[in-house]
Amino acid sequence: MFPMRRLLLPVFCAASLVLLAACAKSAPKTDAGLGLNAQQTAGRRIFQADCASCHHAYSSAGSKGPSVKSLFKKSYLPSGLPANDRFVRGTIVSGRGMMPGFGAALTGQQVEDLLAYLHTL
Ligand code: HEC
Repeated sequence: MFPMRRLLLPVFCAASLVLLAACAKSAPKTDAGLGLNAQQTAGRRIFQADCASCHHAYSSAGSKGPSVKSLFKKSYLPSGLPANDRFVRGTIVSGRGMMPGFGAALTGQQVEDLLAYLHTL
């Protein structure tokens, strides 16, 4: 038995682990990777389905609508209204300018889930 052979397996394993770690880093953000709880995860799904076509969540670049990155970390919303649940809920439910309202499409619980997610951005 060559000693090299015994070395090969652990070296191979270590190399795969490093590769795996590298992949995990570059892979798109998963709910678990973002540290989201169940409600925030539900909100993220709704965001991806209903909002992501017009708003970036992880980039400050504008899309069809303004970015919602750090939405609640700033004092004011893009419109100039205070950045709090009341006004963001109002925009989601009734719409604003070119943005359609989602009051008919989403349940009250879904709107709350969405708000919980937006607070994580
Ligand atoms: C069809 C494109 C479109 C979709 C879909 C859309 N928005 Fe918007 N959104 C806009 C536009 C355009 C504005 C800017 C409105 C304005 O101030 O005239 C906006 C503004 C906003 C604002 C800022 C409000 C303020 O007071 O400045 C928030 C928050 C927001 N949207 C959240 C959402 C969420 C959450 C969803 C998903 C439920 C969503 N939007 C879906 C286009 C969209």
